[in-house]
Amino acid sequence: LRIGVLFGGRSAEHEVSLLSATNVMAALDPAKYDAVPIFVTREGQWLLSSFERGVLATPSAGTQLCLVPGGRGRMLALPASGAAHELPAIDILFPVLHGLHGEDGAVQGLAEVARMPLAGCGILGSATALDKDIAKRLLKAAGVPVARSVTIDEGAAPSLAELEDQLGLPIFIKPARQGSSVGVAKVNASQEFDRALTEAFQHDRKLLAEEFVRGREIEYSVLESPKGELFVSRPGEIVPAESHGFYNYNAKYIDENGAALIVPADLPPEVEEAMRGMAARAFRALGCDGMARVDFFLMPDTSFLINELNTIPGFTNISMYAKAMTASGVSYPELIDRLVAHGLA
Ligand code: DAL
Ligand code: MG
Repeated sequence: LRIGVLFGGRSAEHEVSLLSATNVMAALDPAKYDAVPIFVTREGQWLLSSFERGVLATPSAGTQLCLVPGGRGRMLALPASGAAHELPAIDILFPVLHGLHGEDGAVQGLAEVARMPLAGCGILGSATALDKDIAKRLLKAAGVPVARSVTIDEGAAPSLAELEDQLGLPIFIKPARQGSSVGVAKVNASQEFDRALTEAFQHDRKLLAEEFVRGREIEYSVLESPKGELFVSRPGEIVPAESHGFYNYNAKYIDENGAALIVPADLPPEVEEAMRGMAARAFRALGCDGMARVDFFLMPDTSFLINELNTIPGFTNISMYAKAMTASGVSYPELIDRLVAHGLA
């Protein structure tokens, strides 16, 4: 079975995708799969890559690839010099892209147009989950608790005093369509507020101001079977190091001691079960299919709320999705097999 693994990408999470895809490539059993790594440059070109001795190539030039619309997995290769030729058909595309243009339904739509099976979440769930503003509205409508927030459009930012009235202090300022905490800041005072808005608007035209929630960070991995049944993993807990203030980009990927992952998280069984049910409800509420990681905050009184869903969660060494699945009896290779089976169904 030939799998096209898309990685890199145009979003601010390009580097995170390189780490994720290296792990996915390593987990693809060569006896079963002929993996074709496809590097998406920051400019959005698709270039043929290679995976040798655990290293995923990130070429700056070379053979450019493009999908043939309606071509059932057919791809054209356009070498830097020489004539275009058709590659052997790809059976399934496996996007390991985070953020915009990859996790947001764009590539999922491209696959649909090309009649190419795709592993993971489809167009609708990808698009709704990536937009934190739209996701919150759908979650609220489905009775899923979320943190209070105010959506801020460019050129129409409320004052910090207005936000404080509604949300208290501190608040989080977040780009609506970003991942890995890129552009996210915790704000206590007006000086920080201006800086946070400027920074966040570099990443999106739409922001969220969100109340600060003091809770434990608990995550569940959701995987759909080819028949549409949901498997929800044991919970994992993320304990960010005090020094980082919150689970930010540095705590996630730069500082090796930035956070501890505890899998399974130590929760009373009835709380674990209630959160598991809510994870499935949120998955359905956003129209997700295939897979997603559902991120919660759990308060000391055992109430909880959902922070967000990630439809292409990180697959880096420190990422939770695969760890929580492994702790639930689904090994990394098995996880890949199931995702592929779901995509081909
Ligand atoms: N957006 C990152 C990759 C995650 O949620 O794991
Ligand atoms: Mg995210």
